Amino acid sequence: MTSPAFPVLPAGFRFGAATAAYQIEGAHDEDGRGPSIWDTFSHTPGRTVAGATGDTAADHYHRYREDIALLRELGVDDYRFSIAWTRLLPEGTGQVNAQGLDFYDRLIDELLAAGIAPAATLYHWDLPQALEDRGGWRVRDTAEAFAAYAALAADRYGDRVHRWITLNEPYCSAFVGYAEGRHAPGTREGRGALAAAHHLLVGHGLAVRALRAAGDQDVGITLNLDRIHAASDRARDFAARRRAETLHNDIWTEPLFAGRYPAHETETWASLADGPWRRPDDLKVIGAPLDFVGLNYYRPICVTAAPHRASDAKQRTAVDVGVAEVDPYGTRHTTMGWPVVPSAFTELLRHLHARYPRLPPVWITENGSAEADTVAPDGQIHDPDRTRYLADHLQAVADAVAAEVDVRGYYVWSLLDNFEWARGYDQRFGLVRVDYDTLTRTPKDSYRWYRDLIAAHRAVRKDAR
Ligand code: FCB
Repeated sequence: MTSPAFPVLPAGFRFGAATAAYQIEGAHDEDGRGPSIWDTFSHTPGRTVAGATGDTAADHYHRYREDIALLRELGVDDYRFSIAWTRLLPEGTGQVNAQGLDFYDRLIDELLAAGIAPAATLYHWDLPQALEDRGGWRVRDTAEAFAAYAALAADRYGDRVHRWITLNEPYCSAFVGYAEGRHAPGTREGRGALAAAHHLLVGHGLAVRALRAAGDQDVGITLNLDRIHAASDRARDFAARRRAETLHNDIWTEPLFAGRYPAHETETWASLADGPWRRPDDLKVIGAPLDFVGLNYYRPICVTAAPHRASDAKQRTAVDVGVAEVDPYGTRHTTMGWPVVPSAFTELLRHLHARYPRLPPVWITENGSAEADTVAPDGQIHDPDRTRYLADHLQAVADAVAAEVDVRGYYVWSLLDNFEWARGYDQRFGLVRVDYDTLTRTPKDSYRWYRDLIAAHRAVRKDAR
């Protein structure tokens, strides 16, 4: 089989790979790290596939040098990783853990020595359990604690880390965590989840302030916005799409990029929406100008109108918005069950560009696919479906760039196979295979394709000078 052609991206476009602390680090109780909600959740029977936990994960905490050598070989410009809040502040606030601070010093220095720019995410879902015990994201104190943690990280690493991402996918933190209950902390709430969504945004805004105060210039947030289609052109499916857009997208993009709360929130959540958690100045805090917005994209969603699960609006969880997902795409699915529709990626980017004049430059901070990898008799992992997925989605980005969307870079999810949250170790997203018995790393064919793409991009860029 021939490898897919390399999509052509503008000079100056940056390539990277992404990971997250809880998914790869392991060393869950080493060197003073405190427990997060994901430790509690994954250790609760029945919460993750096969009872998987991140206790060891890919053991990156001990093998980070080997992993950075893999990044260097890959030739990436940037590496997106996340800092575990509970390594720095085991209780979420107060006592600072020097050994935790040291770990990210070592990681950052090793990256810089390899010629790779670090892009640090402050929050990739691992809330300190001590803060969850005091109300978690349902309470404003957590937003303030997050800002204090951001200030600590900026103060320590800001001399070497120049790209900061405050939150990763607040949709998942608020709604998958507090409303669907599939992720930590695993509850099914209405008002609690909407309060969490709001406090995540406030926490983001306060963290932006803290990062700016420390002199940092390249500050953004990562969202998993969805391209949402309606199952038919009937009015009720259009209304369902509007509610899904409010839940998935507008709740974030309206306050961040338009300085207002979503227009259809009452239609979506009835009286749950406008809660006492909002304060008059919040929109100003949340809407502080950003240097970029990170987008994580995997698949589109198609919705149809459906009965609410709870007939009494007061009993509804925040994701019970009278919508069901359908899959009319007729395409291949990844092992996550997600339809592969690259054109929807271009549509999403173009839509955001058209809708928000104040949209900052875009970075694709995650994109990738989980596949049923096997180790061939030659010891290699031949993963043409993943390579094809990456090529087609990079082409979709190139198409958006051609349509004037300002996209500056692209990070593959993920460098390594890792702990895929509730799906445990079944889902493999890595460019590099991790054998979970031996923790051996083996680059897959897709790794070599991405390496060659980056090299080809550099060569063209050089010619253009
Ligand atoms: C995103 C998460 C990331 C990873 C991918 C597959 O929602 O940000 O940690 O799990 O999905």
